This record gives sequence, C-alpha cells and structure tokens, in this order.
Amino acid sequence: MPENCQLFVGTKDYIAAEELQNSVNISAALGRPLLIKGEPGTGKTMLARSIAEGLQKELIVWNIKSTTKAQDGLYIYDTVQRLYDSQFGDHDVSEISHYIKLGKLGEAFTSPEQVVVLIDEIDKADLEFPNDLLWELDVMSFNIPETGETITARHRPIVVITSNAEKELPDAFLRRCIFHYISFPDEKMMKEIVHVHYPDLEDKLLAEAIKAFYWVRSIHGLQKKPSTSELLDWVQALTVGGIDPEKISSELPFLGVLLKKDRDFKVASQQMSGRVPNRKAPMRSFWR
Ligand SMILES: Nc1ncnc2c1ncn2[C@@H]1O[C@H](COP(=O)(O)OP(=O)(O)OP(=O)(O)O)[C@@H](O)[C@H]1O
Ligand SMILES: [Mg+2]
Repeated sequence: MPENCQLFVGTKDYIAAEELQNSVNISAALGRPLLIKGEPGTGKTMLARSIAEGLQKELIVWNIKSTTKAQDGLYIYDTVQRLYDSQFGDHDVSEISHYIKLGKLGEAFTSPEQVVVLIDEIDKADLEFPNDLLWELDVMSFNIPETGETITARHRPIVVITSNAEKELPDAFLRRCIFHYISFPDEKMMKEIVHVHYPDLEDKLLAEAIKAFYWVRSIHGLQKKPSTSELLDWVQALTVGGIDPEKISSELPFLGVLLKKDRDFKVASQQMSGRVPNRKAPMRSFWR
C-alpha cells in the first residue's frame, strides 16, 4: 500500500487537468520523481505548492542555479567554519557532525513526516547535475563519509522536478522519472484559472480578455508568446484601468503587459493595423 493514500485533485487556487492529477498520483504511489515540463508560466512551480497544500505536507524548495551542484542538496561540510573555530572559537572542533549541514534533499530525507520536494528548474544546472542525483533519488539515501553516517529517507518524499527544456536531460535520469508535459491551457481551462485568481471578475471582461489573449498568442512569428502569468497581470491591469470590455479586442490596451519584446510588439501592431506598419490600430475586432 503506497504511503500516499490521499489523492491529489488540485487546490482552490490551482486547477489541475485530470491527466496532470493522474501523473501526480502515480508518481506519489510509485515513489518516483515527477518531471514536469511545459512552456513558461504553465504552472510548473505552482504545482508543487499545490500538491503540498492539497496533501497537507510540508514543501521543501530547492531552486536550481547554474552553479548548483548535486552535493549541495545532500549536505555541506563547512570546513571553513571548522577552521575558524579551531583558531578563534571555543567549540569542540573534533565533533565533525557539528559542521555537517544538510541540504534540501538531506532535510527531506530526515523529516519525520513525508514532505514534498520541489527541484525547480533542473535544466539551469550543468549536465552532470541530474546524473549526480540518480542514485540518491533512486534509493533515497546517501552517505556522509566524513562522519560515517548514512542518511536514509524515513518517508520517501514526493519529488517534483521542473524543467523549461533549456537542456535535454540524460536518458538514465528520464528513465527514473514519471514525465508530464503541461500543455498550454485551452480557453475553457484558462477561464477557470483566471477565475480562481480573480473570483469577482466581471464575466464580460473575462470573456473578452481571454479572446484577445488567444488572438495575441496566435500571431505568427512572436518571439515570446504571452503566458498564463502575463494574462493574469493583464486582467488585473484591465480591471484597475477601468477598461470597457467592449474595447479590449479592438484596442488591446496595456499590450506591454502581454508582450515583452520590442519585435513582438511591432508584429502585433502590424497585425492589428492590417499589416500596415506605423498605422494606429483601428477600432475593430481582429478575430471575428
Ligand atoms: N493550473 C493553474 N491554476 C492556477 N494558477 C495557475 C495555473 N497555471 C498557472 N497558474 C498561475 O500562473 C502563474 C505562473 O505559474 P508558475 O510560476 O507556476 O509557472 P511556471 O510554469 O513555473 O513558469 P516558469 O517556467 O516561468 O517558471 C502563477 O501565478 C500561477 O498561479
Ligand atoms: Mg517556475
């Protein structure tokens, strides 16, 4: 019987499609890391928060940077502090365990309760990083040669790993994970997502904003399509700006909230003005 009998179904502020729920539950039941890929802003990071909240478990976040090493997640032996103490302190420096600091995985393995671990943006690190974690993620255990101690997970954590696919991950690593690609939400799901963030939003404004948003995303040749997070910001800007919903599709107000690249801005303006550059957008709808 898996440790997790509770099923993940999303949370009040996170809409999880059924396939995503299934992937989470399978990964938890099998005790295998869940590797999440998807466009920026599709809720990869938030998923781990939602799993922790939904299953009422502590969340341990390990944000990966280009300089992060696998060892950092296990433990660090603070030799500098020990040297300092040996010269200037009155501590007993022979007790090496005082200088062993557990990393995020170390914390997760030693936790008295099962936790959720988010390894966020694994593709930021070098290629050795996932390879170096294979064994530890498999057996959920590691040794500390300095003290002779072995740290073994008391409860296999639920591990969520996100990647923006900047780098391909090694096959051996992929083989050990349950993989899920979060597809970009369709209009219906996007409405639900916006709704959980802004429950009081006027229906008409929501409908018009979503329609305009998907039109902008459909513009051919954009370098960076706007994502869910940009839509959420845009909806807020439209509300704060008191924009008449009828004018959203024709005027695309605050377009800079959706498009962040000069070139995309130009491409969108050209599309709006019937591909005649430098002409102001006409007051009409472009997707009907
Ligand atoms: N399914 C969803 N339900 C509720 N909110 C969502 C959902 N998907 C995305 N969001 C919202 O969109 C925003 C971006 O989500 P998040 O930061 O998790 O995306 P990400 O995939 O990790 O992006 P990045 O690749 O840039 O790190 C957040 O405000 C989040 O709440
Ligand atoms: Mg993220």
